[in-house]
Parts: sequence; C-alpha cells; structure tokens
Amino acid sequence: MTDDVLVVHGGTPLHGQIRARGAKNLVPKAMVAALLGDTPSRLHDVPAIRDVEIVRGLLGLHGVRVTDGAEPCELVLDPTNIECASSDEINVHAGSSRIPILLCGPLLHRVGHAFIPDLGGCNIGGRPIDFHLGALREFGALVEKRAGGMDITSPNGLHGCKLSLPYPSVGATEQILLTAVMAEGVTELRNAAVEPEIIDLICVLQKMGAIIRVRTDRVIEIEGVRRLRGYSHRPIPDRIEVASWASAALATRGDVMIRGARQVDMMTFLNTFTSVGGAFEVDDRPGADGGIRFWHPGGELRAVVLETDVHPGFMTDWQQPMVVALTQAHGISIMHETVYERRLGYTDALNQMGATIQTYRECLGGTPCRFGRRNFRHSAVIAGPSKLYAADLVIPDLRAGFSHLIAAMAAAGTSRVYGVDLIKRGYEDFEAKMAALGARVERG
Ligand code: EPZ
Repeated sequence: MTDDVLVVHGGTPLHGQIRARGAKNLVPKAMVAALLGDTPSRLHDVPAIRDVEIVRGLLGLHGVRVTDGAEPCELVLDPTNIECASSDEINVHAGSSRIPILLCGPLLHRVGHAFIPDLGGCNIGGRPIDFHLGALREFGALVEKRAGGMDITSPNGLHGCKLSLPYPSVGATEQILLTAVMAEGVTELRNAAVEPEIIDLICVLQKMGAIIRVRTDRVIEIEGVRRLRGYSHRPIPDRIEVASWASAALATRGDVMIRGARQVDMMTFLNTFTSVGGAFEVDDRPGADGGIRFWHPGGELRAVVLETDVHPGFMTDWQQPMVVALTQAHGISIMHETVYERRLGYTDALNQMGATIQTYRECLGGTPCRFGRRNFRHSAVIAGPSKLYAADLVIPDLRAGFSHLIAAMAAAGTSRVYGVDLIKRGYEDFEAKMAALGARVERG
C-alpha cells in the first residue's frame, strides 16, 4: 500500500493560485435529480472526485447514460432508458458513500422499486437514516430490510404529506425534495435544512419544472408535478474546499488565491477568518474570473470561541481545517461541535505533532446542544500558539484527513501521511494543487 502514502516536507508557506469547482455536496445530488427528467441533463464544472464516480457508476447501472460533455468538466446525463438494477451490482458500485439513499424517491417515481445498499460515508458519528425512512413511509413507500440493504416499493404511488424534521438534516431535506417534486399533491416540510447546496438543488429541480416555495423559518412547500424535464446547471462552488485551502494558507502563513470562490457562500467563514486575524480580498470585478484571496498578514493570530451549526452557522466541515489554524493562534480557543457527535478524534494526531488540544464531553462556549448530556467528547479547547512537528499520520476520514495534510504542511520536518486516497472522495487534484501552491510533497 506504499502508493497510498504522501510524504510532506513541511514548513513552507503556501503561495499561489488554485481553482475550486462545483460543490462535492451538490454535484452528486444534481446527478441523482437527472433521474427524474424525461430528457437529458447537463451539469457543468463537475469536479473529478471519487463521489462523482460512484454516482456515475450507480446511475449507469440504472440505465442512465452518463457521458462527458463538449466542455471540460461537463457531464451529460441521459435517463431515457432507465431500468431496475440488480442489488448485487448496486452493492459493488455503492462504495463508501451516502448518496445511494437519495436514489429512493427518483427510482420509485421512475421504476417503482429501489434497492438501497448498507451505506458508507465518513465515520464521524452514528449517521442514522431514520429521518429518511420516516419521510419515505409518510409519502406511502414500503421499506423492507433485507441482507445487505433495503427494498423500497410504492404499490399505491407516492403522495404529498406534512413533515417536520426533528433536526434540519441536509440529507433528509434532499430526500424529501427529490421525492415530493413528483409525488401527487402538496408536501409541506418544516424544520428543513437550508444550506446553499440545498437551495442550489432546488434551483436544479425548478429548472426541471418543479414548483418549490422556500418560506421563512425553515418551511419548504413542494407542489408535485406529473413530469419533469432535463436541466442545464452550473453548481455553486465548493465552499468546503475553499475554506480548507484558506485555513491552509493561514496555518502555513501563506497567501492563496482561490478562483471560483464566492463571497456569498462563505460569509460566516469570512467573519471567523477575520476574527482569527486572517486577511481576505474578494475579486468580483465585472468580466473577471472571480475568486477570493486569503492570506496571513503577519503578526499573531487571535484565539476565538466557535461552534459548528446548520446554515447559516459555521459549517461542521469547516471545523477541522480551522482547528489546525487555531493551533497557531495566541490564547485559548474553543470549538463546540454540535452537528456530529464524534468529529474531534483527529485532534489526537495534532497533539502528537505538538498541539495542545483537550476534548470535553460538556458543551463549552455557551449554547447547550443535543450531545451535551451524552458521553461524546464534542468540545475542544485549543491552547496556542504551538510549534508543530512532523509525524506519521493515518487519515481517519475526509475532512480530518485534509486537516492532517494542512498540519503536515505547517509542521517542521517530513511527515508521512497514510491513506491519502480517501481525500480524493472530496478534493479534486489535491496533490497537484498542493504542488501548485509550493508545498513539497511526493508519493511515499
Ligand atoms: C451532509 O451530510 C454532508 N454530506 C456532510 O458532509 C455535512 O457534514 C452534513 O451534511 C452537514 O452539513 C453530503 O452532503 C454527502 P445531515 P448528511 O443529515 O446529509 C443527524 C463531508 O465531509 N441525522 O445533515 O448525512 C445526523 O446523525 C460530509 O463532505 C439523524 O439523526 O448530514 C447528524 O447528527 C461529512 N437522522 C445530523 O442529523 C437522519 O436520518 C446532521 O446530518 C439523518 C441525520
């Protein structure tokens, strides 16, 4: 497995320019939405990441012809010959992704049956799917557990309903949107997630002919329609990738221009970036390519108190890269993780590199969350600044994995980072981008 190791010679500030493409947490879902159309769809600015390949394979199994378009990074998805796939084949293609669960509604509408394999995805908490299954049952679907997954059918069709999520889950909101758009009648969803990726999925569905009203207070109303057509769409940029490289610029005292990044998707992150002492500049000149430049302006970074939250709060996926930058801030920072219960395990590796981070079961920083009275170490106290030293690191999950890379780039000496291929799930060409920014890296 030596080719799954990256050797990082740390200590060099990142300098230069890279590009962020379409959001990893939108593109696979827009690909799933293409199943609902009766004409081909076109998706632009698609990143070359493993999650896209997994969904491409899954759609192919169901008879969707997915081909590269004429433009670079364009996919054409033709669902005109859609069919049921065998569960054995689905299991092979599902990989370690959570996207297969989102195929339920579209497959029920188009072929009347869905087999959903046991799901993968990062191990950052329990990651139950009870909201998804509860909602599908409300629409009239029958869910049967069987070895290796679930059979889902809708013998009496799918019908609009009134739903309220116990927590504004991104995946469950997407599940409900993808099911409700062609269910008979009106669906009202309360306590919906309203992340920019969800709004972008709503834009995709609206282009297809769906009628979706986003009301205030997290209420979404969907009027079912009988047919949807294909779409052409350029997704929002990947705001997690942007924040990851921005944090890398801060942690290495560098200066990075990220083409494609948009201020409107990053507002909460930009506030934190400024509070910590980072500098940024938005390029939105008319006719220009657009982007945001992030840099360390010199001097000391400042400690902050942060908590992760659903949109418009500070994203849980921004947490790990920012914690690496906070190891360089002067004073005591607090990070309260309120979205996933087990998303701080990676801090052990940072401590091994010289950071001083302690994790606690209590909700630190002011606001009590769902995990407070339970046995989860979900608050971190970061004392800085700490000099980081190279280490041998094993990547635990996607976002923590990228933060290990940031730490290795910021550290003095040569680190060996094992399991880096996992990062390809969500970061396009990350090795080439590291090299373009002057990081000294090679395969082990
Ligand atoms: C999406 O996961 C993203 N994944 C995650 O990014 C992201 O961290 C998360 O949303 C929050 O923004 C994709 O888009 C593929 P949730 P999702 O349902 O939809 C609980 C990354 O690295 N919950 O909003 O799976 C759940 O346990 C990934 O790019 C239930 O209890 O997240 C969690 O505590 C990691 N029951 C909370 O809701 C359910 O049925 C939020 O999860 C569903 C969720």
